Amino acid sequence: MRTCLTIVLAAGEGTRMRASRPKVLHAIGGRPLIAHVLAAAGAAGGTQAVVIGPAQDAVAAAVKAVLPTAEMFVQAERRGTAHAVLAAKAALARGADDVLVAFADTPLITPATLKALRGALEKGAAVAVLGFRPANPTGYGRLIVAPDGALVAIREEKDASVEERAIRLCNAGLMALRGDCALAILERIGDDNAKREFYLTDAVEIARKMGLPTVALETEEDEVRGVNTQGQLAEAEDVLQRRLRAAHHEAGVAMTAPETVYFCADTKLGRDVVIEPYVVFGPGVTVEDGALIRSFSHLEGATVGRGAKVGPYARLRPGARLEADVHVGNFVEVKEARLGVGAKANHLAYIGDASVGEGTNIGAGTITCNYDGTHKHRTEIGSRAFIGTNSSLVAPVKIGDGAYIGSGSVITDDVPADALALGRGRQVIKEGWAARLRSLVGAGRK
Ligand code: UD1
Ligand code: MG
Repeated sequence: MRTCLTIVLAAGEGTRMRASRPKVLHAIGGRPLIAHVLAAAGAAGGTQAVVIGPAQDAVAAAVKAVLPTAEMFVQAERRGTAHAVLAAKAALARGADDVLVAFADTPLITPATLKALRGALEKGAAVAVLGFRPANPTGYGRLIVAPDGALVAIREEKDASVEERAIRLCNAGLMALRGDCALAILERIGDDNAKREFYLTDAVEIARKMGLPTVALETEEDEVRGVNTQGQLAEAEDVLQRRLRAAHHEAGVAMTAPETVYFCADTKLGRDVVIEPYVVFGPGVTVEDGALIRSFSHLEGATVGRGAKVGPYARLRPGARLEADVHVGNFVEVKEARLGVGAKANHLAYIGDASVGEGTNIGAGTITCNYDGTHKHRTEIGSRAFIGTNSSLVAPVKIGDGAYIGSGSVITDDVPADALALGRGRQVIKEGWAARLRSLVGAGRK
């Protein structure tokens, strides 16, 4: 078994994003760019090092959250990609058989491709570079390949001649170096170029000068789209969504208009789940077997139990937990609340910071008044209770099993099991009042 060290570069400023957040923390599929790369690196095996910029605590925290074993290095000054790799010199000096360099802004890379690059080293290459043929090569380094197929050099666009710029084969940014010569190559890289940066791409020419074999592998553009701008972020999202939809289809999820459904990388769907058009999944959603998610629903941080029905137009927010066969219908919002087996809230309701027992029916317009302007309070509703329409349940409040709340009630006190609670003004009837009004108005008009 060959050992492997993957160095993920994340110290760039990402100025072209024109955003205050570090580039690698922008998300696709609800997960930061760097988390996608770390997941692929983790799956490809070996150990991982991440190079971040100074004062990038948020990036460091994101790395810790995804891959706690990754070693972190700080590149104090941003002086180019080779300079960044050398920030992890201490890890390199430990001497892995294979060294992989990946960019945190190239999030669609797959473990299979990382393994293929390692495979090229195993077959004898000292440097293996991943190439692709982008529809628009602007901004990418070009791979200069000799007639015999050997990779001769990588030329950054700013340093390329007109002929070199016409080359379609571009540098995807992924490189594998043989561990026993990686440091020797990297330490020879200088900054004699248009940007006065230490370019990792110079590793190819240097290796050749040292008499070491260099090769290029090729992949599809969709796997190596680099994210430097908001537009490219959206393109990467599009590729990821297509992958996620295909994977869910493959796993048996029924979707008639997959192109309108947006997933997160961590969305978990059971067997026989049906998803109607126009549904958005935020992070942390699990949908269990046989559940139906109807159109225009938005779910995040929620669990939908077996056979449950959600939507159309439902909103499940973090902490929403629907047990089996629950129905949550149109314009119902659920947050930090558990609905027991078979509970129903079919129309126009807000259920927040609450628990609802089995088989309870929540009428249209029911609101849990959970916030007093300072604190959040809980509403606890028992099993097989009936909450009449347009009721306000002012938390903290408990409603017992089998209790019945009259429509239009404002409930401020606990309701015992099996009781009826009415909390509304009494109805007043004034016989003949409307007729008298009409005759008065009629008299005035004459
Ligand atoms: C780089 C490649 C280019 C390739 C393209 C693919 C070089 C010199 N150029 O260009 O050949 O076609 O990626 O997307 O390698 N970084 C640091 N510290 C630095 C500079 C960069 O950590 O001092 C990191 C960035 O965070 C980023 C990665 O390295 O993750 C690439 O840097 P970026 O500035 O995006 O390079 P490109 O111009 O895209
Ligand atoms: Mg880039």
